[in-house]
Amino acid sequence: MRQPLVAGNWKMNGSLDSVTPLVEGIKAGLDSVTTAEMAVCPPYVYIPTVAALLAGTSIALGAQDVNDQESGAYTGEIAPNMLTDVGCKYAIVGHSERRSIYGESDAFTASKFAAARKAGLVPILCVGELLEEREQGITEQVVARQLGAVIELEGVAALGDAVIAYEPVWAIGTGKTATPDQAQEVHAFIRGKLAELDADVAAKVQILYGGSMNAGNAAELLSMADIDGGLIGGASLKPEDFLAIGIAANR
Ligand code: PGA
Repeated sequence: MRQPLVAGNWKMNGSLDSVTPLVEGIKAGLDSVTTAEMAVCPPYVYIPTVAALLAGTSIALGAQDVNDQESGAYTGEIAPNMLTDVGCKYAIVGHSERRSIYGESDAFTASKFAAARKAGLVPILCVGELLEEREQGITEQVVARQLGAVIELEGVAALGDAVIAYEPVWAIGTGKTATPDQAQEVHAFIRGKLAELDADVAAKVQILYGGSMNAGNAAELLSMADIDGGLIGGASLKPEDFLAIGIAANR
């Protein structure tokens, strides 16, 4: 039985004043979340503040990205060890906004995945197709290529210590959620692909859905056999909505 994970990706939102009420709000309702692990991924600069607020709770901390190098002349970048240093458990890698806005490749994403693992972080590897790729009927090829870059570099066993997030790009921040059947189809494809290489890894890996998941649609999505949680953007900025998604994962 895979434990559900509900992770909030705050993206580039918030301020020093807003992070405290957000975290306190989540903490206040946490007792109602009985099964899922809850995690939050604040902007880098707020991570230490959020870490202090989370101390002694079961809420995990993550970062939204990470560099693939350990240290050195990489202006503006954050190394994996810096994230473990400030209490992060997770690091998102390959979010579609990194891939599409900043041109980050499958290979660079795989390299970040490897560096994160090496530092003891659990990577949350994002994969997903663009609208035109879905319309061309190449969703599975795209997802297989994105996963393949990581498997080629790190081997399939590495995915056993990681989390995968399937995020159809056309559903992110658009209010257009994949239907539970559309999402389940791709989740099952991902698990099946992994099972061809290693059945234990396939059975173990948590595959989250991301893309306009909210309090209203979470229960249906989370009831699907291969959907093990959510990577939540917009709805993670409101404690009651984020908690409602966590509650929807209760078993
Ligand atoms: P969204 O974002 O929930 O706002 O669609 C999800 C994500 O990008 O991780």
